[in-house]
Amino acid sequence: MINKDIIEKLKKKNNSIILAHNYQLPEIQDIADYIGDSLDLAIKATKNDADNIIFCGVNFMAESAKILNPDKNVILPDINAKCPMAEKVDKNLLEKLIIENKDAEVVSYINTTTEIKAISDICCTSSNGVNVIKSIKSDKIIFVPDKNLGNFLKKYIPEKEMIIWPGVCPTHNRIHKNHILNLKKLHEDAIILVHPECRSEVIEISNHALSTNGMINFVKNSKSNEFIIGTEKGLCYRLKIENPDKNFYPINSAICPNMKKITIDKVINCLLKNEPCINIEKTIMEKARVPLEKMMNIKRGD
Ligand code: 13P
Ligand code: SF4
Repeated sequence: MINKDIIEKLKKKNNSIILAHNYQLPEIQDIADYIGDSLDLAIKATKNDADNIIFCGVNFMAESAKILNPDKNVILPDINAKCPMAEKVDKNLLEKLIIENKDAEVVSYINTTTEIKAISDICCTSSNGVNVIKSIKSDKIIFVPDKNLGNFLKKYIPEKEMIIWPGVCPTHNRIHKNHILNLKKLHEDAIILVHPECRSEVIEISNHALSTNGMINFVKNSKSNEFIIGTEKGLCYRLKIENPDKNFYPINSAICPNMKKITIDKVINCLLKNEPCINIEKTIMEKARVPLEKMMNIKRGD
């Protein structure tokens, strides 16, 4: 049995705050001070007085929080909680692409490592991607690393050339059209919401492609009672807590194993020891802050 009082006491003692991504395990969402999507959590990390931010998510999220708050202790409960899509981008190959396309601006999804952000012009998340891409002055864009999100964003700027990195999120790319269509056969009236990291054929049959907080807001304001949720299954926990009278139909195989590496025991360990901390070399951190801060000045699109 988790003693929430103990967690609260430890948080107060160390002036710590717990931020949790929407995909976190239910027991982590239950003890979080704030639950949100990538953009929301990055903003939240800059707008609090805590000395220690315990970031329940994957490493690029905790790194972004550290880049934006270099003087705070940002703690990731499991340093092996890494986004495989972010990890796979080859910096040398990207640098070569940048040299070959000197007239292009580099837009990197927040799901990238610090070293990739450091050579990017601006970052984006799934919630502000459309507004970020529309803000680009150059006629050519290099978009890294998610090809599904890149192809989704490309539709908003048909007049521009977009070189899209061939990365995918394994969890979202595993969602197939048939998963959605089979659920739709069982629940004819359900609204289909999917994440823009899904394959284009999945996005095409959806009603809306939204970030995770975009889905939370859509459901809250919708008159419908049934929703097919085409993203990591963990989002359905928060959806159900906030909308107990509505029904959600997840894709049962859509689980991000890295998000699930964060457990209550590991969080308690962080509260006791104030580690493991995110440490980033100063020069690279300063370079990576530029595209992140540029992104923060652009509003959400959902
Ligand atoms: P959101 O910013 O929409 O929460 O997405 C983050 C992510 O990693 C999706 O897989
Ligand atoms: Fe990365 Fe996909 Fe997991 Fe999001 S769901 S953290 S993009 S692997």
